[in-house]
Amino acid sequence: MTIGRLNHIGIAVPSIEKTFETYKTLYGATEFIQPFDMPAQGVRVGFINLPNTQLEIIEPLGEKSPIINFLEKNPKGGQHHVCFEVPEIHAAKAEMEAKGAKVLGEPRIGAHGTLVIFVHPKDSDGVLIELMETPKGAH
Ligand code: CO
Repeated sequence: MTIGRLNHIGIAVPSIEKTFETYKTLYGATEFIQPFDMPAQGVRVGFINLPNTQLEIIEPLGEKSPIINFLEKNPKGGQHHVCFEVPEIHAAKAEMEAKGAKVLGEPRIGAHGTLVIFVHPKDSDGVLIELMETPKGAH
């Protein structure tokens, strides 16, 4: 397996609307995908489209949201994960585990509608890595 394109950078924040406003007024971003709920993941998600990638802006949804701890440590928000595309998620998971990396949970449908896994930050020099199956027909 070889990691492919950077698909997006995940940023966890207390308010997606506030972050959209920041990127609009400070950096002139113009393309926003309005926030939607992902109850199974415990997050609300919105996107900022950039010429070569996206910013995935995530906000906690519900009391058991997996990003609550992160926001307690980073109350203003912060960079949460980096997402790379891979050809096939189950093969990627098997390879990560064979190499001794800790995969968090089973492959599940991510915010882009394709299967994703997360690899523990301890295995990647402190960065939480999301691997996403390349969307069919993309690029
Ligand atoms: Co993501």
